[in-house]
Amino acid sequence: MTEQTANGFVVWLTGLPGAGKSTLARLLESELRGFGLAVERLDGDEVRQHLTKDLGFSKEDRMENVRRIAYVAKLLSRIGGVAIVAAIAPYAEARRSARTEIGTFVEVFVRCPLEVCVQRDVKGLYAKAYRGEIAQMTGVSAPYEAPVNPEVIVDTDQELPAQSLKKILHQLRVMKLVP
Ligand SMILES: Nc1ncnc2c1ncn2[C@@H]1O[C@H](COP(=O)(O)OP(=O)(O)O)[C@@H](O)[C@H]1O
Ligand SMILES: [Mg+2]
Repeated sequence: MTEQTANGFVVWLTGLPGAGKSTLARLLESELRGFGLAVERLDGDEVRQHLTKDLGFSKEDRMENVRRIAYVAKLLSRIGGVAIVAAIAPYAEARRSARTEIGTFVEVFVRCPLEVCVQRDVKGLYAKAYRGEIAQMTGVSAPYEAPVNPEVIVDTDQELPAQSLKKILHQLRVMKLVP
């Protein structure tokens, strides 16, 4: 008997700031609720105000941030829920640990060229980073290690959010996680 229940799983959206993680997490959340699934969304920005308020943006702290998010996501999936994580999670090693810890893990690479993310600058953070006002900005002054073997890749510079969502749902269907 495995730790995982039949229908609990974790969808982890990883990508650069501004790539589209939060947008897709919200769309996916409402779609999966429509299937009657118990869904929670763990968004990096919100998590950092609560669960990981004490952490900064060093490699060590980012690893710890991901470790704590993965722990909560695991608990949710273990009782049959779906945890949708929208967090940069820039280090492959941390994502690998999350995958090992969680079991049914769907890694979605929310791919978007840095230039496009900078153009979007959804939260104005790139501008600040280029002005030297914030340090350790992913893509500018901190690394982002792209996933090598994610379950899904969405190209948000070429797709509408609805199209990216469709790709994710397709993979969940292939994995028999949704009807
Ligand atoms: N295919 C797509 N998927 C997600 N977002 C997209 C897509 N195409 C364009 N966008 C836009 O890109 C921006 C992404 O912002 P956001 O979701 O906050 O990024 P992140 O959470 O990764 O920092 C939004 O303004 C969104 O409308
Ligand atoms: Mg976001």
